[in-house]
Amino acid sequence: MNNKVIAIDGPAGAGKSTVARRLSERINFTYIDSGALFRAVTLKVLKCGIETDDVKNILYYAKNSSLDFINNSIYLDGEDVSSEIREAFVNSKVSYIAMIPEIREIIVNIQRKIAQNKDVVVDGRDIGTTVFPQAYIKFFLTASVEERAKRRYNELCDKNKCTLEEVRDQIIERDYIDAHREASPLRQAEDAILIDTTGKNIDEVIAEMLYHISMKGDV
Ligand code: DC
Repeated sequence: MNNKVIAIDGPAGAGKSTVARRLSERINFTYIDSGALFRAVTLKVLKCGIETDDVKNILYYAKNSSLDFINNSIYLDGEDVSSEIREAFVNSKVSYIAMIPEIREIIVNIQRKIAQNKDVVVDGRDIGTTVFPQAYIKFFLTASVEERAKRRYNELCDKNKCTLEEVRDQIIERDYIDAHREASPLRQAEDAILIDTTGKNIDEVIAEMLYHISMKGDV
């Protein structure tokens, strides 16, 4: 594989998606939001009335779904679901769907297929460890739980009735599930560059990443 993969991992609310999207635009790479793929499968499962522990049916629906990125929007069975996948009912269930190894396999394959002939920036939890262990460069973004909860709350509060404390508790729960599941848990790859985004704005984080990328010399 000669094309390049920039892997960005980290916990919920660390700023990965915004940073990954902007970075991809700056360097003209394709952006893959792997969380959006898990969220879209979760949305489908919930809309079909399937319980999150009904693995057989979850797999059936996941295998019979079409998932596509078009201009950074995610399409589920031909419909743009970019907003719906960010709603609270998806947030609260997505970690359970992401625990299922067969679901992870389906989503890993989608990502590898997209990256087959393109330079990509990919963000998620297992990108540097499992999906693209040979990535050109790997970043691991973190931030304090308080800051991550505030960011998620600001994204949500217009649309949903919830408190900052509820968002914080949900983030702690998701961090725990993501980091303790058996199948590719959230973990920093040994060769990933750690960036703590607490108190930093997006431009500062991107500048830091561009510095590391420029040190490698050929992007
Ligand atoms: O990054 P996000 O909040 O959109 O991710 C949604 C969920 O999907 C999150 O709970 C963890 C899971 N996820 C994962 O397990 N592996 C990835 N590569 C991306 C997301």
